[in-house]
Amino acid sequence: MAHETDAVREFYAAWGRGDLDAAVAVFGDEAVWSAPPGLEDAGLSGVVKGPGEIGALLARAREVLDVRPEVDETVAGDEQIVVFGTAAVRGALTGTSGSAPFVDVWRFADGRAVEVAGRHSTAPARDVLAADGGDGLRGLSTDFMLSQLLRSAVDLGVFPALADGPLPAAELAARTGLHPRGAADFLDALAALGLLARADGRYGTTPVTARYLADPDADPYLGGLFAYVGSHWYWSWGRLPEALRTGESQSYGGAAPYDAIHADPGVTEGFQRAMAGASTALRAALAGLDLWRGFATVTDVGCADGALLSRVLTAHPHLAGTGFDLPTAEPGFDRTVARYGTAGRLRFAGGDFRTDPFPAADAVLLAHVLIDWDEDVRRLLLARAFDALPEGGTVLVVDTLVEDARDAASAAGLLVSLHMLVDQRGGPSYTAGEVTGWLRDAGFDGVEVRALSGFDRLVTATKPKRNDSV
Ligand SMILES: C[S@@+](CC[C@H](N)C(=O)[O-])C[C@H]1O[C@@H](n2cnc3c(N)ncnc32)[C@H](O)[C@@H]1O
Repeated sequence: MAHETDAVREFYAAWGRGDLDAAVAVFGDEAVWSAPPGLEDAGLSGVVKGPGEIGALLARAREVLDVRPEVDETVAGDEQIVVFGTAAVRGALTGTSGSAPFVDVWRFADGRAVEVAGRHSTAPARDVLAADGGDGLRGLSTDFMLSQLLRSAVDLGVFPALADGPLPAAELAARTGLHPRGAADFLDALAALGLLARADGRYGTTPVTARYLADPDADPYLGGLFAYVGSHWYWSWGRLPEALRTGESQSYGGAAPYDAIHADPGVTEGFQRAMAGASTALRAALAGLDLWRGFATVTDVGCADGALLSRVLTAHPHLAGTGFDLPTAEPGFDRTVARYGTAGRLRFAGGDFRTDPFPAADAVLLAHVLIDWDEDVRRLLLARAFDALPEGGTVLVVDTLVEDARDAASAAGLLVSLHMLVDQRGGPSYTAGEVTGWLRDAGFDGVEVRALSGFDRLVTATKPKRNDSV
């Protein structure tokens, strides 16, 4: 049976790599494959006959469960080969995975397989199918509840109320203004989700919520992000179907987003706090870059409250910086500078970056700015960055990019792109190749793209020295 054993092993290898034509070549025309009961709903149980039907069953197993069989051992007898192995399964939607040992008994006649009887537990496959086919999908429908729960805790001041230590439910409810009707469910839901710690009838922060949500004046503080997303973006995303039908932004009552944000000091501050929360990891990653050593000055274009720039300057005491944003950004910028103690080295310049030149510096940072605009404005901003730099100066562009393939690796970039549609007016998300082209057209060279933090990538480029280009 040596030849048959090789054929059986080749069958599993071919199935695993998805070469189903090669896999079914082992079967005779009348071959019968019987799969154990338990997966009828997925069409993966029962008896199929002939290479065509067997091939279809194998293809379906790969499609819905991404089955990858690994043979551990084969035992050959006079008429049959028993195969012991392990099949890994993985759900395409949720990525839920599992594995099950299997025992397949093969019978051969005249060198072709005529029967395979499979024995394995179907429980792991059923778990994956449940998560993928229903439970996982159903969970997606209510994910907004989690972000609204956390946003409500932030709005009501739950975490700062616990900054000095745990409190009994009644006292926490009184401090945060909770109505008795929902108070227990609200606090217990936060505890059940691991956002509060409950012990001996008292509620406290967890290490994560203490670090990121308990002190609105600290860096890091993510509460501003939850507050703004939960009030503004939640609302505009609720109108995504409308945006998809019309191509129109749904936010800010139809006004240009930054006009609306900067028309109301409360909204300006809320937006700036959201940006500061969103860029928490980015601040650390940017501040940790070696390249700052090569500059004396930096301009942060679209600096919002100046948290990015302040963090970079704190880490690099030799640097001086200018934050450039719409004039109404200044009060928030001043608050941040006071908090970081960077006042002596950091100044604010108010202006409109579409019409005003950028303040000159050795480095110009555009973080989450290009994404907001269409290609014409992106090119204009890169041209202004070029003008603001000395020869040898560097532009730094930070955004979440999409890959050319627009596959799973681009999911975050595609959602950002849809956010531009529904909440802003610019976009769409762009690729490394596109921004490289815009930078080169603006006169830059030495373009480099690297991962920075989270989904953000850093694109740097240099303004050539005049004798570089001759
Ligand atoms: C998405 S935020 C990015 C904030 C910050 N760079 C970050 O990464 O967290 C874009 C910034 O561009 C500013 N901005 C929008 N339009 C502008 C304009 N015409 N001139 C100057 N700044 C503008 C906004 O006020 C906002 O602070």
